[in-house]
Amino acid sequence: MISIQQLQKSFGDNTVIRDMSVEVAKGEVVVIIGPSGSGKTTFLRCLNVLEMPNAGTIQIGEEKVDFSRKVTKRDIAKLRSQTGMVFQHHNLFPHFTALENVMEGLVTVKKERKEKARQKAEAYLTKVGLADKMHLYPFQLSGGQQQRVGIARALALEPKVILFDEPTSALDPELVQEVLKVMRELAQEGMTMVVVTHEMRFAREIANRVIFMDGGVIVEEGTPGEVFQHPKEERTKRFLQLIQ
Ligand SMILES: Nc1ncnc2c1ncn2[C@@H]1O[C@H](COP(=O)(O)OP(=O)(O)O)[C@@H](O)[C@H]1O
Ligand SMILES: [Mg+2]
Repeated sequence: MISIQQLQKSFGDNTVIRDMSVEVAKGEVVVIIGPSGSGKTTFLRCLNVLEMPNAGTIQIGEEKVDFSRKVTKRDIAKLRSQTGMVFQHHNLFPHFTALENVMEGLVTVKKERKEKARQKAEAYLTKVGLADKMHLYPFQLSGGQQQRVGIARALALEPKVILFDEPTSALDPELVQEVLKVMRELAQEGMTMVVVTHEMRFAREIANRVIFMDGGVIVEEGTPGEVFQHPKEERTKRFLQLIQ
């Protein structure tokens, strides 16, 4: 369902994504691990075209864009509408309630009518366990609740895939589980997910496949058992020793 071929991204003369090709099947949960600065965030941002790749193709569902050619705004919009993103920091609008934050993309991007957008937003906020917090502002919510609003916001757009960029890494330890619980439920329901995380136990539990990247390339990939218990590459072994 997702096919990324020979993706490249540089910032000036700093090549961050050297050459990444990744296929993700419908309903698959792919976890990406790797050292800080290895290009994990940039990779996800390229998939959502928050960063413009320099070369390579990205296909999500029926939409395929070749970044070696001239890319139109319409190409970008089409690709972006297929993906939802949950960031390390929640990125909610501070002057909007939880409900308004989830409605915002539906009304402005998807051009849905307010009443319909409200119903959808209520349904997704209920799904992430925030039925009783809909009318609160981000500052009135805990970090874990804010991240769950971010997940509801991504879900409401009904994307083909949700990209998670270290969604729990900025949270106090006692708030991590409530976010992982929502992600676990999504995975069980068959949502296609690409997740950058350092929560290794969680990764082991939900990932169909683990990708270890470093220096803008895939060093090694396989099932959680293969990568975590029997890593082949020295770089993978070293990284796993550092974080476990
Ligand atoms: N907007 C940007 N402008 C310039 N350099 C960037 C930008 N975003 C990321 N980088 C650089 O890309 C490299 C990889 O960063 P990033 O994708 O955030 O890695 P990771 O998420 O694995 O820690 C870093 O060297 C970082 O400085
Ligand atoms: Mg990052």
